[in-house]
Amino acid sequence: MALLEIVKNPAKILETKAAEVTKFNADLAKLLDDMYETMLENDGVGIAAPQVNKSIQAAVVELGEERDVLELINPVIVEVSEDTGVDMEGCLSFPDLYGDVERPLYVKVQAQDRTGALYELEAYDYDARVIQHEIDHLHGILFDKKITRTYTLQEIEEMYAEEDEEQ
Ligand code: CO
Repeated sequence: MALLEIVKNPAKILETKAAEVTKFNADLAKLLDDMYETMLENDGVGIAAPQVNKSIQAAVVELGEERDVLELINPVIVEVSEDTGVDMEGCLSFPDLYGDVERPLYVKVQAQDRTGALYELEAYDYDARVIQHEIDHLHGILFDKKITRTYTLQEIEEMYAEEDEEQ
């Protein structure tokens, strides 16, 4: 595996709709492995191919407390809840930006895995949020436009300090 360079905002590729994946081959598998390694190295919970300079519909996310890895190829959101929630998000392409984003609390997604097999997935709460953030990337939609409240780095540090105290 290899670490990939992360494309930082502003960049045209980040605002471009990515192309459908049609070849489920060794190149795709290597890209997904490298994206996963790059995500872990940068403490992310999701990464989309345009963020590593590949304009294709592929993303990797970590879900749940077990941090299960899920690969989303050509994902389509087929259902969302009317109920929404607001929570803080960050993005590997925006190193110093953290902000509240409102999103549906539930999504149902159809996608393919690295072999091309179709699957369906339901996700709730933070998992649903991560999936929606990454699928947005595949459509050239960035979270900065959806932020309703920005956090300063000092506020972020204080939040993490409080979390550490609670543990
Ligand atoms: Co992002």
